[in-house]
Amino acid sequence: MRNLEVRPLLIRPATSVDIPAIKTLEQHSATAAHWKPEQYEHLFRTSSQRTVLVIEDSSNQRVEGFLVARDSGGEWEIENIVVSHQRHGLGTHLLSEFLNHARRRGAAAIFLEVRESNLAARALYQKLRFEKNGRRKSYYRDPEEDAILYRLQFT
Ligand SMILES: CC(C)(COP(=O)(O)OP(=O)(O)OC[C@H]1O[C@@H](n2cnc3c(N)ncnc32)[C@H](O)[C@@H]1OP(=O)(O)O)[C@@H](O)C(=O)NCCC(=O)NCCS
Repeated sequence: MRNLEVRPLLIRPATSVDIPAIKTLEQHSATAAHWKPEQYEHLFRTSSQRTVLVIEDSSNQRVEGFLVARDSGGEWEIENIVVSHQRHGLGTHLLSEFLNHARRRGAAAIFLEVRESNLAARALYQKLRFEKNGRRKSYYRDPEEDAILYRLQFT
């Protein structure tokens, strides 16, 4: 297996050229949020108010993960985060960089929701000091499951 920990990793804003790589990562991840093709096309319109970051291996420009978040008047919601290889620190690196990005842009708080059973994602959010602040009963379908809500307050 490629050892991503010793590879030079770069985090940068995504562009529409990255859509195929982003879709591939999403489609290979059972627990990612799954979007329709047109939602990806809309991502890079200025009206979408979204920030899309990718983490890439700069030795070969391969996209190894992405994060999508939406800014609603200073309250940001993380809509998706996926990495190619779990438990190599990619998620920590990508989410930390996003938090710096949002803070620099004056974010007051970051929100997200996640399936209760998604222990990998929940471990990542808790590691970066998100606090559990609610539950939505039976929020997800196929399979039905509660959503756990997390919040990170900056101010
Ligand atoms: C969620 C996700 C982005 C986390 O990224 P990652 O690169 O695996 O996370 P990291 O390696 O940075 O690990 C972060 C912390 O979570 C812990 N962790 C990771 N996977 C875990 C698991 N399956 N169970 C328990 N803890 C886990 C790690 O141990 C680490 O904590 P530590 O540094 O104290 O040891 C990744 O698992 C993923 O792509 N999942 C599929 C898509 C998804 O479910 N996205 C979220 C919902 S939209």
